[in-house]
Amino acid sequence: MADYIPDDKLEEIKDRVSIVEVISDYVSLKKAGKNYKGLCPFHSEKTPSFMVNEEKQIFHCFGCNTGGNVFNFLMKMDRLSFPEAARGLARRYGIDLPKIKISEADKRETLKREWLFELNELAASYYHNLLINEKEGKEAREYLRQRGIGNDVIIDHRLGYAQNSWDGLLKFLSKKGASLSRVSEVGLIIPKKAQGFYDRFRGRMIFPIINIHGKVIGFGGRVLDNSLPKYLNSPESSIYNKSNSLYGLKVAKDFIRSEDKVIVVEGYFDLLSLNQYGIKNVAATLGTSLTTGHIRILRRYTNNIITVFDADEAGKKAAARSLDVLLKHGTSPKIAVLPSGFDPDSFVRKVGEKGFKEIIAGSIPLIEFAINEVIKKHDISSVEGKVKIIEDVTPILSMIENKIERDIYIQRVSNRLGIKEDTIVSQFRKTKKTGGILQEKGIQSMDEDIVEKLLLKLMLLSNEVVHKIQEEAIIEEFVNKQYKEIGLLLLEEFNRQGRIDSGRVINCLEDESSKSLISQLSIEKESIEDVQKILKDCINKIRMHKVDEEIKILDIKIKEAEDKKDEVLQREFLVSRQELKNKQINYRQAFSRHNNA
Ligand code: CTP
Ligand code: MN
Repeated sequence: MADYIPDDKLEEIKDRVSIVEVISDYVSLKKAGKNYKGLCPFHSEKTPSFMVNEEKQIFHCFGCNTGGNVFNFLMKMDRLSFPEAARGLARRYGIDLPKIKISEADKRETLKREWLFELNELAASYYHNLLINEKEGKEAREYLRQRGIGNDVIIDHRLGYAQNSWDGLLKFLSKKGASLSRVSEVGLIIPKKAQGFYDRFRGRMIFPIINIHGKVIGFGGRVLDNSLPKYLNSPESSIYNKSNSLYGLKVAKDFIRSEDKVIVVEGYFDLLSLNQYGIKNVAATLGTSLTTGHIRILRRYTNNIITVFDADEAGKKAAARSLDVLLKHGTSPKIAVLPSGFDPDSFVRKVGEKGFKEIIAGSIPLIEFAINEVIKKHDISSVEGKVKIIEDVTPILSMIENKIERDIYIQRVSNRLGIKEDTIVSQFRKTKKTGGILQEKGIQSMDEDIVEKLLLKLMLLSNEVVHKIQEEAIIEEFVNKQYKEIGLLLLEEFNRQGRIDSGRVINCLEDESSKSLISQLSIEKESIEDVQKILKDCINKIRMHKVDEEIKILDIKIKEAEDKKDEVLQREFLVSRQELKNKQINYRQAFSRHNNA
């Protein structure tokens, strides 16, 4: 979209705009050292952790990790597209933008989206009609009856049926004069190898995925028996983005508001069954764990998010995955755990509305759940077990932003372990410190991940560093894909502009976590004393890691050669291994040399 506004105009906007001025319209900011500080508008907090840096034209919240440049701020705050945010700023600062081109392109895009919605709408009616009126839908009607889904729910959610034919929908839409390439763009039909198309959904129950405005953005389809794949879904398209969509929200949103609570489940049938039992404040993530996008949407209606999981392993994993996301957003997430082997659908059908609501009423904060899981994993009666528990529990505790809440949990854990609170608090302080980028223990013993992140931070700090990093071609050796991508982008920016402008780089990045990483690294205050030494150590560490990995691979090869009794090959490998070992020793010494210097 950025190309609708010429680059030089974007630069002009950025040069003229004061990020502090713009954000001040929304947040009351106070000067604090180099930065301005205020209460974050993106999550609820009582002590300010939202920082704005005028010089770098960047904001970052250390509470919820939201960050970016002035465009990103407006996009998030006012839910604008990039060009909308840019145009707003241009207007405010009196910068002329070529208008005609923008609106033409926008118009075309809007028109196209409307077409796609329209096609989905037609398809949804077609499938729905087959299910409720036609003889082809008989088996599907029977299937729904078996699963206890009644007419009201079928109609509320516009459920449908795709007959078992290669061209049922294809013919229907052709007759309506639809453009087949558009139909294939929303994934309802698939191009054949030679020519022509065929229906994606055949012989399946159909679940239209409907957004809060009532538009059909995609479909799910389930087989009526045990064949595989059980579910098929529409591919993502310009109107369907899985991680920003929740199934059933249109029906649920008023209930979520009035009950000030949302129950999040994973599956289509979980949601439908709960609805059938009169529980309507439900949304489904469709098999994925909760994303930032989901939470942002749900928070428009409530802050009370309850995720429901089966007690089995998958459930726990899912819970752990969403922990981060949920806490970052300052929501008060809870988790309701079903007896093992049940999903919300099978459980509500067994125990009914009342029984299900009891489980919901018994939901516990996700934090508490996570702590319990850690305690369960180790032997609480032994000393080693307690040490392990404390080790594993502190990172969880450190995710709690609210100090009082954190203290309460520290107290609880110490009670359960029969250990003084101080012990946990001091462990906690230790991890807090190591949570920052520069650790006391030195670069040699840091994780590769942290070293790579540290290098990115150094790149944002000085041009000299960037030169050196380029010379050493160290970014290419990064293990973490995300950091590598960012590093290469920083180099590219440097080579083009002669310096690194974090704000510009953020514009080039697609995903939120990378944006947030850059804003964090640029704003985070940390005095790095001996940049040159740290730089050397980091490069050394990454090289060392690479050699370690090479040795591991050689060891496997040596073992294979040994098994095959191939002595020549084995000797060859052993020589290479010795060379690598020597390299390793050199790297080690390089560390201690300038560490002692
Ligand atoms: N899912 C999917 N594709 C699959 C399997 C699952 O998209 N191959 C999504 C669907 O949205 C599904 C959800 O993940 O509803 C949960 O999957 P699962 O627990 O396997 O299915 P259920 O919803 O329990 O389906 P059912 O009760 O009909 O077996
Ligand atoms: Mn199920």
